[in-house]
Amino acid sequence: MNVKRVLVYTRFERFWHWLQALLILFLALTGFEIHSSYQFFGFEQAVRYHSVAAVAFMVLIGLAIFWHFTTGEWRQYIPTRQRLVAQMEYYLLGIFRNAPHPTKKTVLSKLNPLQRLTYLGLKLLVIPVMVTSGLLYMFYRYPQRHGMESLNVSGLETIAVVHTAGAFLLIAFIVAHIYLTTTGHTPTSNLEAMLTGYEELDDDSTNSDESLAASHPGLTASHSSSEKHE
Ligand code: HEM
Repeated sequence: MNVKRVLVYTRFERFWHWLQALLILFLALTGFEIHSSYQFFGFEQAVRYHSVAAVAFMVLIGLAIFWHFTTGEWRQYIPTRQRLVAQMEYYLLGIFRNAPHPTKKTVLSKLNPLQRLTYLGLKLLVIPVMVTSGLLYMFYRYPQRHGMESLNVSGLETIAVVHTAGAFLLIAFIVAHIYLTTTGHTPTSNLEAMLTGYEELDDDSTNSDESLAASHPGLTASHSSSEKHE
């Protein structure tokens, strides 16, 4: 099978991916200190760092939303049932028997059906819940600190539980995500792709993008220009 080295992740996409990973890890580190799981920065400092990182995270989310819609890349996350079961079977069994990957990665369809579902769930559910509960936490708690005792504290407890549950989910996601990045063609090929942008894909899979491109003109435009600019 011929392989071809192609640009899969544009410069913005890589910047967004790594900055998001760093911010989530830092928010988890400071968040669990606020939760009293350990002492590292000191409570006051942890709260301050958590708030600054949260603002940076929200700005990054804003930029990423703009990028997804202007490039048409949001289409990568449209869920599909095609090969969903095959993909699950592959991760549960096939991978341990050296079975071939059930889904071929292409530039215009770089996520397998399980990734599509998981990432869509993160984008539409977990991250919005974290941002909303975090903002409620910020604007609910701070006035109270300055003596506004009339605010209802029991409401804050629900927000804290939801926010902490989301934090656990995100950490579970990161653990699974890191393991799954090692399941590409080689253990480091996915990592290299997210660092350099380039990955070796089956040549026939790049060809099959042409038929996909016909039905998704927005995606082609963004990718042909991104290949030029890298
Ligand atoms: C835009 C997103 C976020 C905002 C606005 C936000 C905001 C906040 C605020 C205001 C607090 C309370 C600080 C205090 O007690 O004064 C908090 C606590 C916390 N945050 Fe976040 N946060 C965000 C994202 C995250 C993320 C991504 C994680 C983890 C991956 C996280 C984990 C935590 C944890 C574990 C706590 C402690 C909850 C508790 O025990 O009460 N946060 N967050």
